Amino acid sequence: MPVPPTSGRLQWTDVPTPLRARLEDALGAPVTDTVTPAGGFGHQLAAALTLADGQRAFVKAAPDHDPLTDANVHEAAVLGSLPPGAPAPDLLGIHRAADWTAVVIAHLDGPHPDLSPASGDAEQTWALLDKITSSPAPAPYAAAVNGTSSTTAALHGWDELLADPPADLAPAARDRLPQLAELEAAWPGLAHGDRIVHGDLRADNMVRDHHLGVTLVDWAHATTGPACIDAASLAPQLILAGHTPADVARLLRDHPATASSPETTTAFLAALTGHWHRSARQPAPPGASGLRAYQHRAAAAGFALLSCRLG
Ligand SMILES: Nc1ncnc2c1ncn2[C@@H]1O[C@H](COP(=O)(O)OP(=O)(O)OP(=O)(O)O)[C@@H](O)[C@H]1O
Ligand SMILES: [Mg+2]
Repeated sequence: MPVPPTSGRLQWTDVPTPLRARLEDALGAPVTDTVTPAGGFGHQLAAALTLADGQRAFVKAAPDHDPLTDANVHEAAVLGSLPPGAPAPDLLGIHRAADWTAVVIAHLDGPHPDLSPASGDAEQTWALLDKITSSPAPAPYAAAVNGTSSTTAALHGWDELLADPPADLAPAARDRLPQLAELEAAWPGLAHGDRIVHGDLRADNMVRDHHLGVTLVDWAHATTGPACIDAASLAPQLILAGHTPADVARLLRDHPATASSPETTTAFLAALTGHWHRSARQPAPPGASGLRAYQHRAAAAGFALLSCRLG
């Protein structure tokens, strides 16, 4: 699957000197090289650092007035609370200086997973989602995310499209607007649960590490919720990567995270797909080139999957 382009990210040299010095001090060697991986739409620093002693570390940093700092601090708390063996990189530290905050994370070495049918990465990802959702979130994780309302609970879009259908909406979607608006309206009432939810699952928020295998990164939206959220989020991504909607619908029907809650799964998929349809038609935010085009593609994939589920 083509990974959305990275654009407009802050660079290592944009980080205030006192924070760079603090990080080099904590890591024990000067930074000799930085690479900004492709993927994501954010504007903050998100870079792999190489140090003079050959070590590598991954750093996310932003000014404290930037809302991404709160998201990074949340991500750090989550990474520090996940159970051993969870498919996530280790937290190495949080550092603050000059009104900036940096979160240092163990570096993962490898590409984004290949979610196409020919690769085993999709299967590996399904297995990981089964593993992390098969029992309630452990207490330290629940405490770390406590009070964070799930951003997924607020997803919607069909309500607005129903009120004012855009001219470019596919006829098949237009025909189903009342049904889709009703399904997504049920979602907020179903969005609660006690399982680990990554909350932003896409190929570019995963790395296939050469040693650890497929590993989930970017835990900034992590919460607790129903088991189905991440598996249902992965499903349209598989369609974008070349799986047929019918195959993905079958996988979703049988996966342990979604099989026992078909109504919640469908309500979530309706809300997520509505969000994509609505957002794709809004003006592009600065510094996030590629986002609207991605949302158009994702909206079509989500709708194809919903059509299979709804018959
Ligand atoms: N621990 C890591 N080691 C190596 N590369 C990583 C690591 N974590 C993330 N990446 C890579 O860096 C990219 C950006 O990281 P991440 O997604 O965490 O940042 P973000 O700014 O929150 O992203 P988004 O733009 O999705 O909001 C990821 O798409 C991934 O390619
Ligand atoms: Mg990301």
